[in-house]
Amino acid sequence: MTKRVAVVTGASSGIGAASVRALAAAGFETVAAARRVERCAELAAEVGGRAVGLDVTDDASVAAFAAEVGDVDVVVHSAGGALGLDRVEDADLDGWRLMYEANVIGVVRVTKALLPGIRRRGAGHLVLLGSIAGFEVYPGGGGYTAVKHAVNALGRTLRLELNGEPIRITEVAPGMVQTEFATVRFGGDTERAAQVYQGVTPLSAEDIAEIVAFAVTRPAHVDLDQIVVRPVAQAAAYLVHRRPE
Ligand SMILES: NC(=O)c1ccc[n+]([C@@H]2O[C@H](COP(=O)([O-])OP(=O)(O)OC[C@H]3O[C@@H](n4cnc5c(N)ncnc54)[C@H](OP(=O)(O)O)[C@@H]3O)[C@@H](O)[C@H]2O)c1
Repeated sequence: MTKRVAVVTGASSGIGAASVRALAAAGFETVAAARRVERCAELAAEVGGRAVGLDVTDDASVAAFAAEVGDVDVVVHSAGGALGLDRVEDADLDGWRLMYEANVIGVVRVTKALLPGIRRRGAGHLVLLGSIAGFEVYPGGGGYTAVKHAVNALGRTLRLELNGEPIRITEVAPGMVQTEFATVRFGGDTERAAQVYQGVTPLSAEDIAEIVAFAVTRPAHVDLDQIVVRPVAQAAAYLVHRRPE
């Protein structure tokens, strides 16, 4: 039997990279995609999959990507993240635009490009990396919570629009996961990023990847529509219990 093909965007790091490993272990042929294609190539060599460069904010890059990967069964949209932690009145508008481009329009762009191939395969599964920021808010989080609210709306809309087709939509909505996320959010400031995880046991990228693999390996009639997962210490985005150091 030919293997099912799973594309993972944002596969050069964190949840995306771990998802490639988990999906390969679950028997998928994997396509690891991100801008840092050399990292994807290392991962592809490790799991026996493919690596393709991809910038989800760029029309030409997504078109070339779709042409190269061909028809697929599963798309895990992990590309994205946060930029900054500013109050709305101090918002860096370019940062907000970039977040919207990568987290929201990027998902739309890649979905538009790959959906015809999913249909040709006969069935498929779109997994969106949402966040608890998709239904909670916190001071300084305005730009990121706005985009993850949009991802939540996008997933729910797709589920309505694709109703009647054998295409599943799953939103995985994690709380705090220790990846490069905080380092990117704080412009490369690793000390500030480390403080995010101080005194807490955060989720790991592997915790989320296991959930992604579980969702896509359910029987074809089962759609896990939204999966919320948090560290035990994180009761809300802004309410984190920290152990005294
Ligand atoms: N970590 C958390 O606490 C957390 C919680 C909830 C949800 N999430 C979401 O989970 C997803 C993965 O985040 P992560 O925690 O794994 O962070 P990460 O380690 O920073 O990984 C982010 C990935 O997105 C890729 N990416 C960013 N912009 C891109 C673009 N324009 N085109 C293609 N790829 C792009 C990056 O690759 P390149 O830079 O190589 O392109 C990288 O592989 C994100 O959507 C994030 O919002 C994270």
